[in-house]
Amino acid sequence: MKQDRSTAVIGLHWGDEGKGKIVDLLTADHDLVVRYNGGANAGHTVKIGTDRYALHLLPSGVLSPGTLSVIGNGVVVDPEQVLAEIDTLATQGVNALEQLRISDRAHVVMPWHQPLDAAYEWALSHAGDQATQQALGTTGRGIGPAYADRATRSTAVRMGDLLDPDHLQALVSRIAPLKKRVFESICNGHTLDRIDVKSAFDVDRIVTRYAACGQRLTSCITDTTYLLHDQVAADRRILFEGANACLLDVDHGTFPYVTSSNCSALGITAGTGLPAAAIGNVIGVVKAYCTRVGSGPFPTEETGAVGNTIRERGHEYGTTTGRPRRCGWLDLVATRYAAMLTGATGLAITLLDVLEALDEINVCVGYRLDDRGDLTDRFIPDAHRLARIQPVYETLPGFGGPVSTARSADSLPQGARDYLDFIEQFVGVPIRIVSVGPERTETLRV
Ligand code: GDP
Ligand code: IMO
Ligand code: MG
Repeated sequence: MKQDRSTAVIGLHWGDEGKGKIVDLLTADHDLVVRYNGGANAGHTVKIGTDRYALHLLPSGVLSPGTLSVIGNGVVVDPEQVLAEIDTLATQGVNALEQLRISDRAHVVMPWHQPLDAAYEWALSHAGDQATQQALGTTGRGIGPAYADRATRSTAVRMGDLLDPDHLQALVSRIAPLKKRVFESICNGHTLDRIDVKSAFDVDRIVTRYAACGQRLTSCITDTTYLLHDQVAADRRILFEGANACLLDVDHGTFPYVTSSNCSALGITAGTGLPAAAIGNVIGVVKAYCTRVGSGPFPTEETGAVGNTIRERGHEYGTTTGRPRRCGWLDLVATRYAAMLTGATGLAITLLDVLEALDEINVCVGYRLDDRGDLTDRFIPDAHRLARIQPVYETLPGFGGPVSTARSADSLPQGARDYLDFIEQFVGVPIRIVSVGPERTETLRV
């Protein structure tokens, strides 16, 4: 197995690092692009010239003709969302269906999963006093409940099940009434906004809708495990597209404020059926500052003027939900932890241009543990403990010149080059790509 022919692109923060742009860029050097985790909670933006594409489930490789796009078994798939993306792309002149393959073992996000996601969020945000409220601020796409059913097994539906309407009818007839009871018991008589309860549990309607999805996707739904092994055997180059990001990893992120899958490279093997040896280079995508959407600790968050400047300059509003993203300084302690966790062999630094307006830039190089005042340079992947630390900053000078117009590393202003050197030194992984704008061309290879 030739390791170096595959590449994984993985976010090293809490998502939205610009993975879509980097995947699109690297697709040219690969034969297929594979999603292995997450679902439509992801929102990956690709800008090509004046065209802007927002992808949630389709791998960003669909924008490159001739590239095979694979949704692996580790992804939770909302088939109506897949078809909506395919249809939107068709209006933009992209034929995504032809080059798409979806694992028959990928779990389906069923119509009851979004209502259950909303119900848990509602119930938890109304339980107890503020200090004990535990709503996660999910994307509301039904991700947690869908992955929970994968673990429960008897209440799960997989993509292959959509191809057999009688079998689907039997599954939905068994599961929908159970889910309705759970939903009603959580809501306890309360009506949730924007949730269409009737269509969420209506067996006949669901079977009709989802069997129709299966029919439209028949040519795509297949055993992607064998397909991927065949591709590796044929020496094809694979690009793994991480969704969400390392600090949202269910096992190694800021639990419980995480998503429900393994977002780091650790998820690739289980989410595709390929062995670890199939993973070659790992590009860790690092925003020049940090952002987070939803709840959970964020040590370097800036809630004042600096945060607002970053949000407006970086257009930091969610691709999936439109929520304003929380913004703050680059946390190098967290970045180094995520690079270690995912085995990053190179870094892509994105949105560097956003910081060019600042006179001084802080970077977090340690945490002060507030109970004893001790210092540590190790990340704390536990929300409760992480919420109690104070960041220790090193202050670096501003860039001293424009960054967005640079088209080579040499033409970056000295301040920007010093900033990149600082990151590289601290994280201990070489920077391979620097992004200075959303478009394909606004990229420097280092
Ligand atoms: P992803 O989820 O990691 O793919 O990231 P998103 O697409 O959710 O968010 C990143 C946003 O930043 C998108 O709107 C991109 O178009 C944009 N973007 C990517 N790289 C750059 C960059 O270098 N500079 C600027 N200004 N925007 C960028
Ligand atoms: P991309 O791929 C940013 C966050 C949600 C929430 C938590 C749990 O675009 O980087 P979920 O709906 O997964 O149960 O929500 O995880 N989250 C993301 N934040 N970008 C993402 O994906 C995210 N995927 C999940 O905001 O805090
Ligand atoms: Mg995103």
